[in-house]
Amino acid sequence: MEQDVKTEWMEISPEEFRCDAFQVWGDNWLALAAGDFEEKRFNAMTVGWGFFGTMWAAPAVMVVVRPQRYTLEFLDEYSSFTLSAFAPEHREKLAFIGKHSGRGMPDKLAQAGLTPCAAKQVAAPAFREAELVLECRKTYRGQFTGKEFLEKSLVSRMYPERDFHVFLLGEVVRIAGVSKYVKP
Ligand SMILES: Cc1cc2nc3c(=O)[nH]c(=O)nc-3n(C[C@H](O)[C@H](O)[C@H](O)COP(=O)(O)O)c2cc1C
Repeated sequence: MEQDVKTEWMEISPEEFRCDAFQVWGDNWLALAAGDFEEKRFNAMTVGWGFFGTMWAAPAVMVVVRPQRYTLEFLDEYSSFTLSAFAPEHREKLAFIGKHSGRGMPDKLAQAGLTPCAAKQVAAPAFREAELVLECRKTYRGQFTGKEFLEKSLVSRMYPERDFHVFLLGEVVRIAGVSKYVKP
């Protein structure tokens, strides 16, 4: 796996990681990738909703994935995933993988102009074009249900098709990225 690791990324410990979470999730978006790079079986999609934080005394992320996403099949089959952030010039690539499904489009990532590469601690791929990657080991899978919502209007506003998100928590086992993600 080592030869494909992008060398200009720095290893970033959770303590020195610096990131504007609202901007990264809500404005810039992230690529969520799952599968196995070495097996050449993986897929990725854009995500705009989710969290970074601390859970069960470890650095963690939560992603939410609707049941119809092809990426969910890889998330369910494999034990890891990655989240990658990109500089603004790559926004069109994220827009592409957030619009087109890999189901029926096997070269979706290449068509988007993305180059998958090996991650270091997990089987799921990272991307050469990324400026930040969080490598995660799955720790929990759940699914929202209609009856648990306290803010009921979310059900009709966010789930008119009743396609409640699956949520996945992952322990962050590696952070790598460019220097802007390191505390000064
Ligand atoms: C900005 C943006 C954010 C998105 N966020 C999510 C998300 O958090 N969860 C989700 O299930 N889909 C989200 N999507 C939609 C998926 O990325 C999209 O349906 C994608 O084509 C799924 O690809 P796949 O079927 O190959 O997995 C988002 C799309 C965009 C453009």
